[in-house]
Amino acid sequence: KKDFWIAPSILSADFAKLGQEVDNVLAAGADIVHFDVMDNHYVPNLTIGPMVCKALRDHGVTAPIDVHLMVSPVDRIIPDFADAGASFITFHPEATNHIDRTLQLIKSKGCKSGLVFNPATPLSLAQHVLDKVDIILLMSVNPGFGGQSFIPETLKKLKEARKMIDESGYDIRLEVDGGVGVANIKDIAEAGADFFVAGSAILKNPRTQDAYKATIDAMRA
Ligand code: DX5
Ligand code: ZN
Repeated sequence: KKDFWIAPSILSADFAKLGQEVDNVLAAGADIVHFDVMDNHYVPNLTIGPMVCKALRDHGVTAPIDVHLMVSPVDRIIPDFADAGASFITFHPEATNHIDRTLQLIKSKGCKSGLVFNPATPLSLAQHVLDKVDIILLMSVNPGFGGQSFIPETLKKLKEARKMIDESGYDIRLEVDGGVGVANIKDIAEAGADFFVAGSAILKNPRTQDAYKATIDAMRA
């Protein structure tokens, strides 16, 4: 039996109650906390930084924190996130001048590393750095906002990414982010993903642990 990871995106959390929201999704069965970092430069939105990551650790969160960097430049914020308790750090290759160097920087700080591919970004950018990549993340929406619709072409791209990973022989997770929910997760899993981000599908009203658990259970099923 495959082990699938479900990672609620706290972009859709009630930020006024963030600690409680994270506690609730984890108690509801989430594997990982997906942490969206936006800088109003690489993407047209502004969210949260290392201080909030550190605050979650200080609050007692021990689950892996998956830091998705939608920022440019990338490198100077990486040490801060590593020190703040990030487990995985993923970035968009367009946002750095030196993809290999940025991957090495993440590893040198003791975190797992990943590359994020926008809908129009070709997978070939990963080809020569697969030995330094723990996660390949395919965006199934254009980054910047929660609540957008899954772009169907992503299913084809996921199959290509799955093939590339399998042929490489490396232990690489295939993550998908954007418009994932109960209705499409089966198709997405069949296309080869094993790590699922979901924001608005999980973190919505009613904001209770039971409701979050019902959605996460349905996604896992
Ligand atoms: C979008 C973010 C996503 C977002 C997903 O730029 O990277 O993580 O929160 O939200 P949903 O699941 O609502 O599409
Ligand atoms: Zn994300």
